[in-house]
Amino acid sequence: MLAAQTHCLIAILALVALVNSSLASSVPYVDELAIISTSTSSVAAAAALTSPASLFSALSALNATVGGRVKRAIPFEASCFPIVEGKTVPVDVAACTAIQSNYSDPFSRGSHSGAYMMPQWETCQSSPTTEGCLLDSSDPANPLAIQGVNCQLGNVPQYYIEVKSYTDVQAALTFSKLTGVRLSVKNKGHDYKGRSSGKGTLSLWMTNLRSLSHSSSFRPEGCSGKIYDAITTGAGVFTQDVYEYADSVNRTVVAGYHQTVGFSGGYFLGGGFSNLSPVYGLAADRVVQVKVVTPDGIYRTANECQNEDLFFALRGGGGSAFGVVIESTHRVEPLFPIQAAIISFTPSASTDLAAWYSLMVDNSYKWANEGWGGHIEGPSLIHTTPLLSHKEAKASMQPAVDFATAHNGTVTIEELPSYLAFFTKYVISVEARELTDLRRSPLGWSTRSARDSSPAIFFSDAEGRSQLSALINDTLSSAALYLMAGTPWLYNETAGATAVTPAWRDAIWHLGIVPQVFQYNDTLAERGARYKALSGHIQKFRDLTPGSGAYFNEGDVYEPDHETSYWGDNYPKLLTVKRKYDPHGLLDCWQCVGWQGESDDLYQCYVKL
Ligand SMILES: Cc1cc2nc3c(=O)[nH]c(=O)nc-3n(C[C@H](O)[C@H](O)[C@H](O)COP(=O)(O)OP(=O)(O)OC[C@H]3O[C@@H](n4cnc5c(N)ncnc54)[C@H](O)[C@@H]3O)c2cc1C
Ligand SMILES: *[C@@H]1O[C@H](CO)[C@@H](O)[C@H](O)[C@H]1NC(C)=O
Ligand SMILES: *[C@@H]1O[C@H](CO)[C@@H](O)[C@H](O)[C@H]1NC(C)=O
Ligand SMILES: *[C@@H]1O[C@H](CO)[C@@H](O)[C@H](O)[C@H]1NC(C)=O
Ligand SMILES: *[C@@H]1O[C@H](CO)[C@@H](O)[C@H](O)[C@H]1NC(C)=O
Ligand SMILES: *[C@@H]1O[C@H](CO)[C@@H](O)[C@H](O)[C@H]1NC(C)=O
Ligand SMILES: *[C@@H]1O[C@H](CO)[C@@H](O)[C@H](O)[C@H]1NC(C)=O
Ligand SMILES: *[C@@H]1O[C@H](CO)[C@@H](O)[C@H](O)[C@H]1NC(C)=O
Repeated sequence: MLAAQTHCLIAILALVALVNSSLASSVPYVDELAIISTSTSSVAAAAALTSPASLFSALSALNATVGGRVKRAIPFEASCFPIVEGKTVPVDVAACTAIQSNYSDPFSRGSHSGAYMMPQWETCQSSPTTEGCLLDSSDPANPLAIQGVNCQLGNVPQYYIEVKSYTDVQAALTFSKLTGVRLSVKNKGHDYKGRSSGKGTLSLWMTNLRSLSHSSSFRPEGCSGKIYDAITTGAGVFTQDVYEYADSVNRTVVAGYHQTVGFSGGYFLGGGFSNLSPVYGLAADRVVQVKVVTPDGIYRTANECQNEDLFFALRGGGGSAFGVVIESTHRVEPLFPIQAAIISFTPSASTDLAAWYSLMVDNSYKWANEGWGGHIEGPSLIHTTPLLSHKEAKASMQPAVDFATAHNGTVTIEELPSYLAFFTKYVISVEARELTDLRRSPLGWSTRSARDSSPAIFFSDAEGRSQLSALINDTLSSAALYLMAGTPWLYNETAGATAVTPAWRDAIWHLGIVPQVFQYNDTLAERGARYKALSGHIQKFRDLTPGSGAYFNEGDVYEPDHETSYWGDNYPKLLTVKRKYDPHGLLDCWQCVGWQGESDDLYQCYVKL
């Protein structure tokens, strides 16, 4: 087995020379390809039998099948570097300036195949050197990040296909099965855990499948029963576009808190929470049909009447484990007015923040029962509820208003005509602020790791509240907290319909910790220390609230017992579904269902803690 893999790697490096000799003139740099083989026995065996020449011809055949759209990746920042993949190249000053001035702009990042929202996932973090091509996020023009640095692809997939149709995905799966070359699936690249990049993989980039349509009487294919008021979204739609489209047909969509999150990709697949989720459920609760190419190469429709087991798995099973989604259909609600609370202050005394969080803990049970959902980030709260009148909303938020007012803060309690009106007025402006943070520390955001560390008992019970407040108080001395009220607290779910952990249904907060910020020039030891510090903080919340679960999309990168944290009792069923639709283990991802483990070559760039 081991020998077979070694043989395969050698074969592939030989192929590289061949590729280079034929393409060197047409690409701006020459990379050392190391396409890796799968560790699952059957496919690895097949790959080992593949000679360099036949692998090259398989790649060429794939390229022809998809109309010449197999492309070699280029690092997002490459135009700034005089040395790329070990070769001296001319610097493209204009292109570099554009990259630098938009380094933290998510639309700019989203439009480049080699860019990820959390740039550390562009790099091979396990490398003892800095194997990547990063600028200094605090100052993208900092020449120290560029001078004398060899810009490398790092963890960016060597090849990608910008997917136009399900047939592209089928061709890539066939190629993967034939050659052992691994696949990765990327949409908007928001993954906090590196699941949409991968050194040596062929990337399927879903970003441009952006269709949107609406039917007030959508009938899932093959079903004779219920109809739904629903919108159908191509896999690559931006959250912003989904909000605007729903509004244009006089509907409300339940979606996330950032313009560029991939609504019909990682978001709903992992569960998907919104400010509106306490009342209207998770994206996984609301999806009614998914069209997906399963890893066995078949383009399937999954809904409540066909491929029901697959449908269950796609509702929170997470990432690309069960296939490559081409489109998904989601229930929508009528337009409705919304109450919004925007409250913030500047802490002056060192105890202010702990006192504020304590107030948040004390009120969150009541707020949850009143339909409030939203975010608390340091001394700032933004919440919405569709259930209260304006007068009730003001009364409900009075304790927080009083606190902020006493600390010279600012307070707005406002009724807006629609969720889109709220999102446009408050979230996009907050994002402008967050993006300033991102510019300062794009590498730190991904360490916003999180847990649903807050079963309701910790809010409804005085003893629970005081324990939670005390732990938050302890944590604040060394880390910042980001709290999200987005669990489906009031939502009446259909029992057994989704794969998300049942612990979500009994949780009030999803709690994130932001301990440290990655730097472009972190040493391997520093990277490991940052991950460890994060896990250490999270562990205290796990210990306080055993069995509380975690959110697949935003968990600790090194989540212990991730099967239980993310899926609870649903895991055994999910694993059965995984084996049925992916018998050769072609679509693996970090801590996904059926994960082949961190020793798999696919995870060679994750730091081994
Ligand atoms: C700024 C920011 C704000 C966020 N806000 C929220 C929020 O409010 N609520 C919330 O629930 N989450 C939120 N998230 C988390 C977000 O939902 C996840 O990061 C999600 O995975 C992003 O999906 P993506 O398609 O953009 O990312 P990608 O990194 O492109 O993909 C994420 C995962 O999904 C897989 N995938 C993507 N497309 C497909 C496809 N078509 N078929 C199969 N697999 C696919 C990838 O392989 C990968 O495993 C936020 C993240 C960020 C960075
Ligand atoms: C795929 O084919 C197109 C068109 O012939 C070509 O431009 C491109 O370089 C090829 N891709 C690779 C990776 O060889
Ligand atoms: C930055 O990105 C925006 C789109 O997100 C674009 O309109 C603008 O031109 C870009 N700026 C530069 C300098 O390229
Ligand atoms: C949405 O509602 C407005 C106002 O009632 C109406 O004028 C418009 O035609 C509606 N649009 C759609 C697509 O139903
Ligand atoms: C937080 O802890 C400090 C001691 O470390 C204590 O003085 C303070 O009262 C605590 N605050 C709250 C709100 O518990
Ligand atoms: C609020 O502002 C007033 C007037 O500037 C000042 O006297 C007071 O100390 C401030 N209070 C706090 C908590 O910052
Ligand atoms: C859940 O069901 C109960 C009982 O039918 C109902 O009173 C409640 O309004 C429902 N909750 C939501 C959020 O729809
Ligand atoms: C990283 O670069 C900064 C300057 O940009 C420097 O201060 C710091 O010491 C460097 N760190 C390492 C580990 O080299």
